[in-house]
Amino acid sequence: MPGEIDLSRLPEHIAIIMDGNGRWAQKRGLPRVIGHKAGMEAIRKTVKYCSDIGIKILTVFAFSTENWKRPRDEVNYLMNLLTEYMRKEVGTLHHNGVKIKILGEPDMLPAQTRAEIQEAVILTEHNRGLQFNIALNYGGRAEILKACKKLVRCINDGSIDIDSVDEAMFSNLLYTGNDPDPDLIIRTSGEQRISNFLLWQGAYSELMFTDRLWPDFDEKELRSAILEYQSRDRRFGALK
Ligand code: FPP
Repeated sequence: MPGEIDLSRLPEHIAIIMDGNGRWAQKRGLPRVIGHKAGMEAIRKTVKYCSDIGIKILTVFAFSTENWKRPRDEVNYLMNLLTEYMRKEVGTLHHNGVKIKILGEPDMLPAQTRAEIQEAVILTEHNRGLQFNIALNYGGRAEILKACKKLVRCINDGSIDIDSVDEAMFSNLLYTGNDPDPDLIIRTSGEQRISNFLLWQGAYSELMFTDRLWPDFDEKELRSAILEYQSRDRRFGALK
């Protein structure tokens, strides 16, 4: 039984690479997509738990720019799941003060999915509880490149002076805007990679890897990740 987490020293921003849905299903002799369905349940519970204990921001990696390479049926299933999640959950999320934000390029998503997402974002935009960032058609390198292009355009049109550019200004141009960087990045399923997720923002994040497959991730697992985080010595390059 893990000890008690210190609610006064919670990570402000937790980010999760939700990996292992396919393997979870295959281990049970089920089609991969059933793993995604179970993964959606794990998201629901994680959002609830983070919201209940007072985490400020939760970011999940729901669909990467590389995930389009999966079989068309799987991509369609994921898009339908997202649509369903938005439709079914938005009321409860809104009621609990959750604010939904999308990181990435939703333009390429099916119109129906985009519409549900847009509605959920607009409905919840003034909420002050947990900010739930969903990385969708997201890639960290593409995000940095896009910010660079914006910056160069502003420098060229004279609205930004190149000598005034600093890290804070650059951060603001990313999808995350002025969100604080993730304090903790968790990846499930035993893989130990960052996979193009929050490359800039994760510069000083504590990394946590668990063998648990995403659909099996639960409150207990999150509590032990937070406990582990609270036992780490974050120095940001300085001495203690
Ligand atoms: C990784 O498992 C998981 C994904 C690529 C998709 C996660 C997305 C959802 C659960 C959809 C719903 C999202 C929201 C925000 C409601 P994998 O398929 O790569 O697993 P594997 O490595 O075992 O094959």
